[in-house]
Amino acid sequence: MKKIIKVINGENFSIPPIWMMRQAGRYLPEYRKIRARAESFLKLCQTPELAAEITLQPIHRFHLDAAIIFSDILIIPYVLGRDLRFEEKRGPIMPPITMKEIIKLDTKHAMERLSFSFETIEKVKSKIDDQTAIIGFCGAPWIVASYMIAGKSPFDQGPARLFSYFHPDLMQIFLENLADISADYLIQQVNSGADILQIFDNCSGVDQRSFEKLCLQPVRRMINKIKKIHPRIPIIGFPRGAGLFYKNYGEKTGVTVLGLDWTIPLSFAKKLQNKIIIQGNLDPLRLVAGGDALYKGIHAILRTLKKKPFIFNLGHGITPNTPIKHVEQMINCIRGK
Ligand code: CP3
Repeated sequence: MKKIIKVINGENFSIPPIWMMRQAGRYLPEYRKIRARAESFLKLCQTPELAAEITLQPIHRFHLDAAIIFSDILIIPYVLGRDLRFEEKRGPIMPPITMKEIIKLDTKHAMERLSFSFETIEKVKSKIDDQTAIIGFCGAPWIVASYMIAGKSPFDQGPARLFSYFHPDLMQIFLENLADISADYLIQQVNSGADILQIFDNCSGVDQRSFEKLCLQPVRRMINKIKKIHPRIPIIGFPRGAGLFYKNYGEKTGVTVLGLDWTIPLSFAKKLQNKIIIQGNLDPLRLVAGGDALYKGIHAILRTLKKKPFIFNLGHGITPNTPIKHVEQMINCIRGK
């Protein structure tokens, strides 16, 4: 069995399994080479041959314990017909969704339009070694809705928060619709070969009364639906910016593993380990800085969390300006080389 799956099942190793969010991306010259020839990032995501090759690039280079499928959380709005573009320096943009469009949201054909994603997973499965797990993923309904409502990277989810106060019932219907299609998407990813699932959310800026409705309930709904079909599939939750709400996130949603962002204190993380498997949480900028900043960060995490089953990761995606040498140093340090 793959090491990361054993850890999720409760086994402990002196060397934890390692993978990095955004591990296939712009800090790798081999990615930049393929990217330079491609029409766009979105086109790359929809070309299974290339998406599979990119997924495996960091595995070939660093022998990580898991490969996350190369794609994006905004693929869901894209297949729902939103006119999504990724613009250099501005990030993703799309026309903000209107109330009328939310009411009429047509999810019928989305799954057929996602076939490229399932094909990518099948291709990765046929090429990957038997020690490395495949991670499928999607965005949580709240983060996806936040982007669809704002039409661009939303600061603290402002537009969607305001929408949820003005139109709470419609917001709930919107989140439930997104939860259902996202759950179907993840179920089909498992059918295609994913060994683990991760749900990316961003709960920063959400207050206590809203957290239950916007972040917990939609993810709970997804997990109930997935578990009916795949009762044993491990699911990692990553509710970035959830702060103190991390405390009950496991019980309330049913996730198997809790991914921590880098702002979560390690003493709090250690307490969480009494009830759930933890993944995290090195500040990605320590990996950019290297040297003392990097080693101190790694050692603090290992010292505090390694005594229980634990998955080493960054506290958010690796950034494009990360030196590859620092990634190698990080991995060697964790693996005691
Ligand atoms: O972890 C992985 O490598 C899997 C693939 C993945 C990507 N983005 C690839 C990507 C995943 C899981 C994401 C998550 C994602 N995407 C989130 C949620 C978690 C988070 O990181 O906060 C969000 C909000 C997005 C939306 C998104 N996609 C933004 C804001 C951007 C632009 C900013 C940026 O980093 O460029 C993207 C583009 C994107 N997603 C790239 C990659 C590799 C860069 C595309 C390129 O090559 O130009």
